[in-house]
Amino acid sequence: MKKILFLLFLIPAACFSQRSKNMLPVIPQPYEVSVDSGSFQFTDSTVIVIPQFIIEGEGKYLQSRLENLFGKKLRIENATLLKGKYILLQQVDMDVKTGDYYRLNITDSSINIYGKGNEGIFWGIQTLLQLLGANDSSLKIPCCRIYDYPRYSWRGMHLDVCRHFFTKEEVKKYLDLLAFYKFNIFHWHLTDDQGWRIEIKKYPLLTQIGSVRKETVIGKPSDTAKYDGKPYGGFYNQDDIKEIVAYAQERHITIVPEIEMPGHALAALSAYPQFSCCMEPLEPATTWGVFDDVYCAGNDSTFEFLENILSEVCELFPGKYIHIGGDECPKDRWMLCEKCQRRIKTENLKDEHELQSYFIGRIEKFLNSKGKQIIGWDEILEGGLAPNAAVMSWRGTDGGIEAAKQKHYVVMSPGKPCYFDHYQSKNKKSEPLAIGGYNPLDSVYLYEPTPSQLKEDEKNYILGAQGNVWTEYITDFSHVEYMSVPRMCALAEVLWTPAAKKDFKNFIVRLKNHSKLLDRMNVNYAKHFLKIRTLWRHEEVLSNGLR
Ligand code: ACM
Ligand code: ZN
Repeated sequence: MKKILFLLFLIPAACFSQRSKNMLPVIPQPYEVSVDSGSFQFTDSTVIVIPQFIIEGEGKYLQSRLENLFGKKLRIENATLLKGKYILLQQVDMDVKTGDYYRLNITDSSINIYGKGNEGIFWGIQTLLQLLGANDSSLKIPCCRIYDYPRYSWRGMHLDVCRHFFTKEEVKKYLDLLAFYKFNIFHWHLTDDQGWRIEIKKYPLLTQIGSVRKETVIGKPSDTAKYDGKPYGGFYNQDDIKEIVAYAQERHITIVPEIEMPGHALAALSAYPQFSCCMEPLEPATTWGVFDDVYCAGNDSTFEFLENILSEVCELFPGKYIHIGGDECPKDRWMLCEKCQRRIKTENLKDEHELQSYFIGRIEKFLNSKGKQIIGWDEILEGGLAPNAAVMSWRGTDGGIEAAKQKHYVVMSPGKPCYFDHYQSKNKKSEPLAIGGYNPLDSVYLYEPTPSQLKEDEKNYILGAQGNVWTEYITDFSHVEYMSVPRMCALAEVLWTPAAKKDFKNFIVRLKNHSKLLDRMNVNYAKHFLKIRTLWRHEEVLSNGLR
């Protein structure tokens, strides 16, 4: 009996040491980790070595992050003769198709990051920064070998800058967070009913009139709600946009700008009411919800207006995708509008849903002619999907499943668990006011973006998933951080790590370790996870690795 009890005790201990041995404080969990004995001690004479000119950007990025995060200013050398303690960044010919793979080998005298492309090297740098930050102030990292690459190609985070506006510097801080957790897509929601936030040179009234609402509802909208009486506005001029696009490019993040149509257009129509069905004066919305005034689909000049806007947008954003919105478009105005009804007849359309498809299809054709692809919310399936459109599935996953079956690319972003504006605790009274719902960290972590009901070839159409941060109730950037982190850390692991290698408790141990790094980065993260009980503390695991 005693023997059996002894064995029962040994089994979990053995599992623990096996799992902890190769565990490093990295989020998302890398594909393959081997921890060796010994450690690399970072010193002031450590140098960054870049033998190839092509990696200069990565070298400078690493240099500036080491200075910002750890106060260490390292020299960059391009010598091929390696001596002393160094961090080597190098492109190598790896036997892989894409450039986002990397190898990180750490010995007691050198740190080597190899990638087929700069992108892989960049993700390897993030892993290194996380390892460096894990050990309070000693800057000592365990010797290890990591081989790593992402599971999905669309690892997205979204930010609504319309309901509330965030400055250029705040957007950059958001991009830094995205990069740190290996996200490669930033979906920038730039236009909506409550504010137009991007300068368009051809239509200056979009920002002169459309970027300012006269006041904002206090709390939840209702017939008796009060308003604050204060004008609220903000926008990015084209120089700001260029600066942010360049900042994202340096971080291997593609920006997907969203220009909403045919609905969520009140701010634009307050500046140019001639493109609405009623053509009457309108104002940017001062409350939240869905509004009846949308772009007139029967008026050719509406398309000319939108195409001129999109031409400037295409010039500003080098990425392949332009998000055209497409969600929550009421059809009431179209039903009463002579021009819209005429369009339905002349185009042989069945109803207003097909009129919406006509609208999106026409815009798609224009954007395809500019070499761009469109992506839209899943309502663009209604009335028939435009020929090359990708679908962002937000009203659950059915839209995404349907689109994949139709052989269209899909980004999964179902409200549960991808809306980070929902509550993250059941105790709502202890939380800042949120739009509703309950979307805790473990729900995000356990999410599987590829629906099991798809056939194998259909599964290839799932590009990945995205976390959405709508800001009706998020008034400042520190609150954006509170809603996004750590749920975005959980989503990062969903999108990067093979499903079979995920483990929630293990994630929480690593996350607890990350709290030090997040503090160092001055991020206002939500701290609910600190109360989740775990078997081991990360510091113990790390010191095991260092022994
Ligand atoms: C959405 O949340 N209306 C896409
Ligand atoms: Zn109309």
